[in-house]
Amino acid sequence: MAGFKTTLASVSLLVTLGLAHAPAEHWNGPHTGPDFRHPYGRPELSTATGAAFTSGSGSDSPVATGTASSVGSAACGYPGGGPTATIDVGVLHGTTTSLPAATASINQFLGVPFAKSPPTRFGPPESPQNFSQPINATSWSPACIQQFVYPEAAQLFVNSVFNNPAPPESEDCLYLNVYAPSTPAPADGRAVMFFLYGGSLQFGTAGQITYDGSAFASYEDVIVVTTNYRTNVFGFPTSPELPDTGHNLGFLDQRFALDWVQRNIAQFGGSPKKVTVFGESAGAFSTDALLTSYPRNSTPPFRGAILESGQYSYRPSRSTLPAEPWEQLSAALGCPGNYGSNLTCLRAANASAIKDTIEKQILVFNPIPDNVTLVSSPARRRLSGDIARIPVMGGTNSQEGRIFTVGQTNTTAYLTGLLGANPSNLGEMIATVEAAYPLGQNGLETPYDQIAQVFTEFIFQCPQAKWANDSASIGIPTWRYYFNASFTNTQAYPNLGVYHASELPMVFGTRQEVLRTTQEYALSNAMMSAWATFAKNPSRGPGWNPVSTGQPGTVLVGATAQEIGGQYTGPNGSVLHGSWDLGVWGNRGNVLGSGVTVIPEWEVDYRCELFEPIYELISGTAGS
Ligand SMILES: *[C@@H]1O[C@H](CO)[C@@H](O)[C@H](O)[C@H]1NC(C)=O
Ligand SMILES: *[C@@H]1O[C@H](CO)[C@@H](O)[C@H](O)[C@H]1NC(C)=O
Ligand SMILES: *[C@@H]1O[C@H](CO)[C@@H](O)[C@H](O)[C@H]1NC(C)=O
Ligand SMILES: *[C@@H]1O[C@H](CO)[C@@H](O)[C@H](O)[C@H]1NC(C)=O
Ligand SMILES: *[C@@H]1O[C@H](CO)[C@@H](O)[C@H](O)[C@H]1NC(C)=O
Ligand SMILES: *[C@@H]1O[C@H](CO)[C@@H](O)[C@H](O)[C@H]1NC(C)=O
Ligand SMILES: *[C@@H]1O[C@H](CO)[C@@H](O)[C@H](O)[C@H]1NC(C)=O
Ligand SMILES: *[C@@H]1O[C@H](CO)[C@@H](O)[C@H](O)[C@H]1NC(C)=O
Ligand SMILES: *[C@@H]1O[C@H](CO)[C@@H](O)[C@H](O)[C@H]1NC(C)=O
Repeated sequence: MAGFKTTLASVSLLVTLGLAHAPAEHWNGPHTGPDFRHPYGRPELSTATGAAFTSGSGSDSPVATGTASSVGSAACGYPGGGPTATIDVGVLHGTTTSLPAATASINQFLGVPFAKSPPTRFGPPESPQNFSQPINATSWSPACIQQFVYPEAAQLFVNSVFNNPAPPESEDCLYLNVYAPSTPAPADGRAVMFFLYGGSLQFGTAGQITYDGSAFASYEDVIVVTTNYRTNVFGFPTSPELPDTGHNLGFLDQRFALDWVQRNIAQFGGSPKKVTVFGESAGAFSTDALLTSYPRNSTPPFRGAILESGQYSYRPSRSTLPAEPWEQLSAALGCPGNYGSNLTCLRAANASAIKDTIEKQILVFNPIPDNVTLVSSPARRRLSGDIARIPVMGGTNSQEGRIFTVGQTNTTAYLTGLLGANPSNLGEMIATVEAAYPLGQNGLETPYDQIAQVFTEFIFQCPQAKWANDSASIGIPTWRYYFNASFTNTQAYPNLGVYHASELPMVFGTRQEVLRTTQEYALSNAMMSAWATFAKNPSRGPGWNPVSTGQPGTVLVGATAQEIGGQYTGPNGSVLHGSWDLGVWGNRGNVLGSGVTVIPEWEVDYRCELFEPIYELISGTAGS
């Protein structure tokens, strides 16, 4: 149980607890198999140590990122043969890629500066300088400095699953990536999908193969923007010397990137009025932070939001005291030493030493409510209606918890840690929960299965259901999904099932091709299409019933059914109606589905009421 107290506060972001037991066997992560070849290649990162972003002369060839046809395409914009774009600080030289069976090649502008980089350490993002020379935007920038906490077994495990291949890291990291179809855009501009990665606000980078927006942009005719933002102490320094609004730098980075989109996306054929933010895990948490901090009558720089496996409104525990890890870090590095303060001392410290210390001492830095980037009572704020009034979609995976609970075998002991926030009747509650997840039934064969399913529902699924219900209750068009498919080639470790983050390669169309099944291919295309359908017209939704409409709507019956003209029809051509509103992606019972099947929410949520007292206690929504 070591590590529980320090990390439980961030459990709703993306948990790294419960991994104290080393995974016994080797495994091939999604992108590490010896046969793995990314279908369309990517820029080499191994040499990008931060120097890749000096201005180019403009006369050299860009690096082709894959197929031979990518050089010398019709989109030639500079002598080297790649596309160009003029943004507010200068001229970008990009590159192109073509995907099989796609109608348009994709212009990629990778490593685009959206802020001064490197930023002042522990300081807010600032506008970048103008560039007098063209900017070489042909490869991903390094990741911001990442944190993978000890124990070492946990560190290795999380790295293997979520940081594979490992990118270079640098404080010089405030860059974003644009993936845009090369064909002329409609006069009013294409829809823009702006992605925020997960990683507990401790790690993550836009430069991961999984987040390559080329397939999405190419097959769905949208513009995809993926951005870096600072994490851990570099993104969320809790120093008492910083001003109240100077702690959540990672969120300020995200907002800076969104502002960049407003100013510049038209240069890529995108419409600044058609931006949808989508994020996963801590990226979804960040998205909910945005939603709840834009008041009712404001005009956020986005018009739709998709939250995959994360939200900010319902958490399993309160935050820890924010000042502690900052002081521990200061002490570990001998601060303030000869410096005037801990802040100036840590500003001068070696970044590698900081990284090493926060990893080994498990110093977790959480964002602090500042009422600008993060409100203090998100659930109450939502229920009051005083949040961004834009359509939303959110969902979770059917077995999120399996990756967080590998090696756990003692259900009672585990639940004691997990449900510990409930002060009065913990023993009674554990007994009730254990009884609701009986061993030997509903596929729960082992204590691990049992623990993982409680984790899935308590940490992810039930909070997401409440989030969706709350959004719908204040009149926000809301759609909810449930991802329920797993494939041999997406198992980062044996027997993880439909684990946290496993929907991402499906959504981005970056699932690997080795051992790819027909179901996987079709399901991925269907999900990409639904996400893009939402982004193109958020108030119309992704294609199934909005949450809690109470109105009969068109639903899909049968996994082989297809979407025809926006209507779902069953295998025999019938169109069924019902008030069901949960879109199940993939498997439905014994059917290996490749589309969406709409079911009533209660079928998967019937145990959520068990956890209700805890959510209400922590969110302060009791009685509302
Ligand atoms: C642009 O970056 C790529 C990848 O780092 C590098 O190979 C190429 O030489 C650079 N081009 C210029 C003009 O600097
Ligand atoms: C940067 O260039 C823009 C024009 O693209 C100009 O409006 C702006 O004043 C310049 N900023 C600086 C600091 O030179
Ligand atoms: C600076 O860090 C030390 C630990 O080295 C701590 O004891 C002290 O309280 C910190 N000072 C301030 C002003 O936070
Ligand atoms: C920071 O520490 C690392 C690891 O000890 C070392 O390799 C690097 O040279 C140091 N950087 C500076 C700027 O001193
Ligand atoms: C944020 O707002 C809440 C409620 O209005 C208030 O209690 C809290 O002190 C505020 N926090 C900050 C940092 O301003
Ligand atoms: C499980 O944990 C409980 C509570 O910590 C403990 O009393 C019990 O002995 C453990 N069971 C096994 C089989 O280790
Ligand atoms: C969501 O709302 C429905 C309809 O009111 C309700 O039946 C369900 O229990 C709610 N779900 C949760 C998790 O609160
Ligand atoms: C078509 O399928 C639906 C559900 O699968 C079923 O309810 C309906 O009776 C079928 N219609 C015909 C004409 O077979
Ligand atoms: C999810 O898939 C599993 C395995 O195929 C299946 O047993 C289960 O019924 C599915 N869940 C739902 C809600 O259909």
